[in-house]
Amino acid sequence: MIAATLLFTALASLSTALPTSSKLDARAGGPAIVPIPSSCAVTNPYPTASSSSQTYTPGPSADNARGYYAYYPAFSDIDSMQLQCLEQCYGYGNKGDCVSAFWAQNLPVPDGYYGSTGGPLMTGCLFFNRTLTPEDFVVAPEGQATTPYARNIQC
Ligand SMILES: *[C@@H]1O[C@H](CO)[C@@H](O)[C@H](O)[C@H]1NC(C)=O
Repeated sequence: MIAATLLFTALASLSTALPTSSKLDARAGGPAIVPIPSSCAVTNPYPTASSSSQTYTPGPSADNARGYYAYYPAFSDIDSMQLQCLEQCYGYGNKGDCVSAFWAQNLPVPDGYYGSTGGPLMTGCLFFNRTLTPEDFVVAPEGQATTPYARNIQC
């Protein structure tokens, strides 16, 4: 129960920190939401699923390219949250710090996330500092990484 309480507290402060709209961005702690200029190419590295229930998640080969990540309860519609994750990737840090984003529901929260023991399935937004390829993805356990969204940004 202690761990669950800690997690809840961490997630509560995290969801406070995450901007729920671009209007809140200035006072929020998450990466700035910056629209991607049309001069940048946005491409989809997500592999072609072999069945409709199969989903993929970034695998071990992407681990050393992962930077910022956030897990949070759903707070908006899927399309908006996916776009926000991508635009936060574009707005993150210095140029090149995030060039690829992965977003999905039902991602296991990693051990140590905000002091938690990890494990609960939450909505996640992951940033990578190199473009991902279909080979960077592995099949997710059934029921995980649902409504996935992966995009590379090349400017
Ligand atoms: C990408 O991120 C990883 C993990 O944070 C870091 O070790 C690596 O130096 C970064 N690479 C570049 C090119 O920024």
